[in-house]
Amino acid sequence: MPQPFFDLTEKNAFITGAGQGIGAAIARRFAAAGAMVGVFDLDEGLAGKLAREIGGIPLVGSVTSEADIDRALNEFRQQAGSPDLVVNNAGIIGKVGPIGSLDRSDLENVLAVNLVGPFLISRAVLPAMRERRYGRIVNVASIAGKEGNPNLIPYSVSKAALIALTKALAKEVAGQGDITVNSISPAVIHTPMMDALPQTTQDYMVSRVPLGRPGTADEVAALVHYLASSEASFTTGQCYDISGGRATY
Ligand SMILES: NC(=O)c1ccc[n+]([C@@H]2O[C@H](COP(=O)([O-])OP(=O)(O)OC[C@H]3O[C@@H](n4cnc5c(N)ncnc54)[C@H](O)[C@@H]3O)[C@@H](O)[C@H]2O)c1
Repeated sequence: MPQPFFDLTEKNAFITGAGQGIGAAIARRFAAAGAMVGVFDLDEGLAGKLAREIGGIPLVGSVTSEADIDRALNEFRQQAGSPDLVVNNAGIIGKVGPIGSLDRSDLENVLAVNLVGPFLISRAVLPAMRERRYGRIVNVASIAGKEGNPNLIPYSVSKAALIALTKALAKEVAGQGDITVNSISPAVIHTPMMDALPQTTQDYMVSRVPLGRPGTADEVAALVHYLASSEASFTTGQCYDISGGRATY
């Protein structure tokens, strides 16, 4: 009988932006490993479809709204229990262009989704994790947060801050039970978000990847699965690269 490594049975997982792309791949993988998944997304249609597919719970709202987060978490708690695993995956690219073309709101709108959302959700789920002395938080950052991409200041800044939030929070909760907080930094991954970028931008991004191709959402999900597993108990405050060799630091 093969050993079921990274088993997630009896675990509740709350995944944001899980309606499509990387979040959907993570949701499918967690469900296949036995978790009950809360599929939180701004898009009601996508959340419902994915939840039906994996036998999860559809949750609709924006990560920028405390009221939406509270409502979704309450719904999830009533149907499944408090989340043991949280993946802060919802994210937007925002406006692309040089600094002179950006308004203050272009920066603030991206920070609201990519940084404030994970902050609010982490703050909301931690009391129950502390009580049970168990939890896994995984934040989906980006290579842009490590390198800083030209013409992507709001996005790069938000992801760098998300990596810093990960490190600071991991240290804050260390020793309060088996609670870990980690992030990942994908490079170009084939998803609807990437498809929306001009082909020349996609080609440029792929040209910087030594493996010479975009990654797949399933490859990202495999890394998140490890970080969300009970086996990953000595890993916290890290930012794991998944960039086809682009970032080797
Ligand atoms: N695709 C890539 O190449 C790539 C690379 C690095 C990092 N990332 C990060 O991975 C994450 C997922 O990216 P993706 O490519 O799957 O994106 P995507 O655009 O294909 O999917 C994102 C999902 O998040 C949802 N969403 C957006 N704003 C939301 C909000 N305010 N509240 C709740 N849900 C919201 C969308 O409805 C959508 O279903 C993002 O954080 C992104 O920055 C992606």
